[in-house]
Amino acid sequence: MEEKILVLDFGGQYNQLIARRVREQRVYAEIRAYNRITPQEIQAAGYKGIIFTGGPNSVYLDDSPHVDPAVFKLGIPVLGICYGCQLMAHTLGGLVTAAQDDSAREYGKTETCYDTSCALFKGLPQQGISWMSHGDYMAKVPEGFALVGHTKACPNVAIADEKRGFYGVQFHPEVNHTQYGADMIRNFLYEVCHVKGEWTMDDFCQRTVTQLRQKIGQGRVLLALSGGVDSSVLAALLAEAVGDQLTAVFVDHGCMRKNEGDEVESAFAKWNIHFVRVNAQERFLNKLKGVTDPQAKRRIIGAEFGYVFLDEALKFGITKEDFFAQGTIYPDVIESGAGDADVIKSHHNKLLPKEVVEQFQEVLEPLDHLFKDEIRQLGRELGLPEYLVSRQPFPGPGLAIRILGDVTREKLDILREADAIFREEIANSGCTDICSQYFAVLTNAKSVGVMGDGRTYENTLVLRSVTTDDFMTAEWTRIPYDVLDRVSVRIVNEVPHINRIVYDITSKPPATVEWE
Ligand code: XMP
Repeated sequence: MEEKILVLDFGGQYNQLIARRVREQRVYAEIRAYNRITPQEIQAAGYKGIIFTGGPNSVYLDDSPHVDPAVFKLGIPVLGICYGCQLMAHTLGGLVTAAQDDSAREYGKTETCYDTSCALFKGLPQQGISWMSHGDYMAKVPEGFALVGHTKACPNVAIADEKRGFYGVQFHPEVNHTQYGADMIRNFLYEVCHVKGEWTMDDFCQRTVTQLRQKIGQGRVLLALSGGVDSSVLAALLAEAVGDQLTAVFVDHGCMRKNEGDEVESAFAKWNIHFVRVNAQERFLNKLKGVTDPQAKRRIIGAEFGYVFLDEALKFGITKEDFFAQGTIYPDVIESGAGDADVIKSHHNKLLPKEVVEQFQEVLEPLDHLFKDEIRQLGRELGLPEYLVSRQPFPGPGLAIRILGDVTREKLDILREADAIFREEIANSGCTDICSQYFAVLTNAKSVGVMGDGRTYENTLVLRSVTTDDFMTAEWTRIPYDVLDRVSVRIVNEVPHINRIVYDITSKPPATVEWE
């Protein structure tokens, strides 16, 4: 059985990060909501270890998420993080209360001391910075537990019952702010859970290709290819598995960036697959005519995408032997575990109406357990070109939500050119490490300028770049002035109808990454 770790989700904001950190140690991790898996199921699944995530609640309140005490009788090691640590203490007979004074509440980077004779801290320095975020306090730790970490304000930021394999930390080892956090997670996996560490992308790739071949047999596969990283990697995976049984349908909605469609098409030339490029620009532009509301633009593009794809699927002559594939990825299917929301959202009908999906033998979503960075790694493994694999995120509705106000062919042409210059200059400047996502936005503001001897009254273009790991929060990127200057000079000289360039210096929050 494949080694795996259960990340039991209590609604913490870093739950995905925990799973990623575990996978970075070559161990497969899956996230399940605390109230959606029973101790019997945990046992049957053969997890090597369980990590309780943080969460926004207080364990001593009745309506807070709790855990079945039987989980502690399974003989499976547990690492509790923040709320997870308090929950373990609370469930096993300790006492957790609201911190009585400010000094016991801890937020942010905190100097922390570790007992390095504890397996969790083995081989680490005795002191380091940890990232705290807790207002509750363990007034009494449960019987059998030792105190293995402390800060100036708090005597028990880490607890351990090494006999039973139970560990708890009040801080967040999964965030980069915690020095040695990755080492602690590695220690939990290798020193406590005794994993071998066999989860690699190469292995995943080979296994999945074999499974896909068995499942698909002689059937055909119809893939919805948007040109983004996820569906491109899925196309490569399916191409590897079933070659010409695959038909990739690439719908070009006309709001792609410069040369994007051609790049996607040429990337698949080496595989023996059927590639259908549907040029549906007219269709989309007609639907978008006069629409200015951002959400309406999104809805129209989403729906039209489905209709165009449906037309192609009908031409394809689907039979019950055939499959439909889409590039759903793990973050799409994880819901925060707190509350009663379903853990796994059904994405099956997202693109095609239910009646159509039912015409297929099955919907394939082979990437639905991978994170974005793993998908990029898989793409490289499969030999997709780097420019496709390392592409920055691009929203499904494309440039339509980067043109404020109504979308026209002329505006799309202007924006495409300006955006291409910005991207080219960033690539040339070597700033791509700090620019996680960068693009141009065409505003509907006109302003007065002067060019040559004449007065102009033209469009204002915004340059936007953010630095972020997760896109949930983001800093505006400190691009050097000389780079911004080069971009500005080139755009006003090379792209007609733009006479003013501004740089967006708002972070997220309070702004969002996109303008619409
Ligand atoms: P915001 O603007 O919400 O964006 O800060 C966060 C990330 O999500 C991307 N984004 C989208 N992706 N469809 C998508 O597929 C959308 O409608 C959409 N809106 C935003 C955005 O580019 C950024 O990476």
